[in-house]
Order: sequence, then structure tokens, then C-alpha cells
Amino acid sequence: MWDYSETVMDHYRNPRNVGKIDDADAIGIAGSLSCGDQLKIYLKIKDGIVTDAKFQTFGCGSAVASSSILTEMIIGKTVDEVKKITNKDIADKLGGLPPEKMHCSVMGYEALEDALKNYGHDDMVDLDDLREEPVKEKIVCTCFNVTENLIWDAIKQNGLKTVEEITNYTKAGGACGKCKALIQDIIDTYYHKEEKPVQMTAAQKIIRINNIIEKTISPELQKDGGDITLVDIEGNKVMVKLRGKCSGCKNSIHTLKSFVETTLKDTVDKNIEVVEVE
Ligand code: FES
Repeated sequence: MWDYSETVMDHYRNPRNVGKIDDADAIGIAGSLSCGDQLKIYLKIKDGIVTDAKFQTFGCGSAVASSSILTEMIIGKTVDEVKKITNKDIADKLGGLPPEKMHCSVMGYEALEDALKNYGHDDMVDLDDLREEPVKEKIVCTCFNVTENLIWDAIKQNGLKTVEEITNYTKAGGACGKCKALIQDIIDTYYHKEEKPVQMTAAQKIIRINNIIEKTISPELQKDGGDITLVDIEGNKVMVKLRGKCSGCKNSIHTLKSFVETTLKDTVDKNIEVVEVE
């Protein structure tokens, strides 16, 4: 049982501003039904001030409470003030959220950011169409559609330092776990940007490839009864052998390219090519 504050319980039991604004000036959406929760927020804006806000959500009690309090926080504020609201402000206003539920406050922040991105757009004739534009941001976690920018913002706004914290705040990494190496890389980049080697020597590269295979890729494959062995490295060509359930599996090429090669490209060198050898 989660330990919720009285404010969370109050907003969950009596959510404010539930519904839709038919002639909204801005609409934002975050999450997706396939990931378990979604929030849609509608804003009415006059002379640069948010005069009304409503929301529709499909999600847990914390999602309802976060959305409800967010609408109260923004009504009456100027657009510039609203732009400064972070997920931490939402969680603080609720009297805190359990770490595992912080992603609900991030969803509120994301929906608000999406709405403000659309506001003032020249072609606001059909806001729903506008939002159907393809997302061009890099997706780090394909299970939950979490982008690199969202993870970066969550680290920046909440001082997150571990993959587990990122999962609590954004859900990224909470299903198959294949994105965990990428999430770790974003954390490392955020905190040690200046320490990141501009160019690795050949020896450093081999050690890094070996480490990533042993500590990140192999444990993930083992979860499904498979495994991987590094056979050789020639320049950017990494030769591996798949073992256990991965060996001879009809998805082995997919595993090799979409997981092994992508992980090494993202964490070591974008020119790496992974090939399977006997
Ligand atoms: S890709 Fe992130 S949990 Fe599956």
C-alpha cells in the first residue's frame, strides 16, 4: 500500500476541473493508453493568462491527483509563469508522492509542456491533427515511448542519479529493461560531461565494449535464457557468438541488430557493426 498525503487523497477522491474544453486554445497530451496511463489537458488562454484548464486522464490515483492539482496551479497564471512549472512543483504541491509514483507528476509536466508547445502555433485550426505530427525526438525506451529529452528534464529537475530513480519518475526501463544501458549513459553524460573522453584509444574501446557486453547486454539476454560471448574485435567490427536460447532463434538477427548493436552504438561508438560468428 502506498503512503499518500492527505492532499493526494483529497484530489483523488474529489478531482477538480475534470472534463474537456471544446474551444480550447491549447491541448497537450502525455503518456499512452498502451503504456497504462494517459493525460490530456485543455487550456483556455486570454491575454496571456490561463483562464480555464480541464483534464481527462486514464491512470492511477496519483495521475488523477497530479492532473487535478496541476489545473488548480495554472488557472489564473500567465503563460510565462506556467512555463516555469516543473514536475517537482506538482509533487511538492501534493505534499509529495511515493518515488514509484513520481512518473505521474512527470506526466502532468509533459502534458503541460505539450500544450504550451502547441499554443500560438500558426495552424491551430485542428489541434488534434497538429498533435499527430510525428515525434522527431529520440526515443530511449520503446516500451513506454520515453524520449531522451524527458529523461534529461527529469534528471535536471529532480537531481536523479540512478536508473531506478529514472524508472520511478518516467517509467523508462520498467518493462523489458533493454534501455537501461542507454539511460545510464544519459545519466553519465549529464553528470560527467567534461570527463567523457572525446576519442577513445583502440585499447579503451575494446575494454568498454567488453564491459558493456558483460555487464549490460549479457545479463539482459540471460533473463530470457540466452547469452552472448565476445569473440573478437577488428576496428569497428565486433564479432560475437549468441548462446543458449538466443542461438539459432528466429529472432537472433533482430536481437543482434536492435539490441546488441544499438546498445554498443549508443554507448561506445556509432560506427560499430556487430556480426555473429560460429
Ligand atoms: S525499452 Fe525500456 S523497458 Fe523496454
